[in-house]
Amino acid sequence: MNDRKKLIVGNWKMNGSLAANQDLLQAIRAGIADLDAAACTVALAVPAPYLAQVQALVAGSALALAAQDLSPHEAGAYTGEVSAAMLKDFGVRYALVGHSERRQYHGETDALVAKKVQRALAAGLTPIVCLGETLPEREAGQTEAVVRRQLAAVIQLNGHCISEVVLAYEPVWAIGTGRTASARQAQAVHAVLRAQLGAASSHAGRIRLLYGGSMNAANAAPLLAQPDIDGGLVGGAALKAPDFLQIIAAAC
Ligand code: G3P
Repeated sequence: MNDRKKLIVGNWKMNGSLAANQDLLQAIRAGIADLDAAACTVALAVPAPYLAQVQALVAGSALALAAQDLSPHEAGAYTGEVSAAMLKDFGVRYALVGHSERRQYHGETDALVAKKVQRALAAGLTPIVCLGETLPEREAGQTEAVVRRQLAAVIQLNGHCISEVVLAYEPVWAIGTGRTASARQAQAVHAVLRAQLGAASSHAGRIRLLYGGSMNAANAAPLLAQPDIDGGLVGGAALKAPDFLQIIAAAC
């Protein structure tokens, strides 16, 4: 048994509306009224335009705010980007970095991800670093090499404070597909990440490793029961209050 605090993050991706957010947050707040905040953190990674609304809707609750991305730059002429300082203005505590959809659609490299982690840490945000292999990479037996490469870039730039980072293993082939990694598959990769972190930091045991990729109410418990799975990064199921609440209940 470890003393790592469970962390469940709902990643809304590019979904929501002022009205839908209001309804979803009302249902989630009602469902976590008895949450043991000492044992479990629940965060919502919402689209930046909704940060002000959601900040107001979560006020006074155990819910924390997360960003889905952040600029590697501190401030300046970077049209369309959102800085860590701007996120802090809205009470954001966590920032997803290197989500596979940004690596895929926006060409984010391991080096850029490492720079974003550095920026988040410098601003006092907790980066949630997303890494994972594609189906061709898994089928080619490259899973361990891919995630180790992705993590190595983060450690190279941020090794001195790697214990302040959260990792999220998200096999790309499980994201949005309904094809979830088995508990055994996920634990195997988490164990690789834990060992790599152990070689870089004496505090590796404190670092939380989340699983993401079609986590749902039915499969959350066996995943979260694994020794090196400390929570979940939830996409589709986070948009359905009953499902998201069942995942939270499985963790907390
Ligand atoms: O960031 C979490 C997301 O990538 C997982 O999405 O819909 O497979 O839970 P989903």
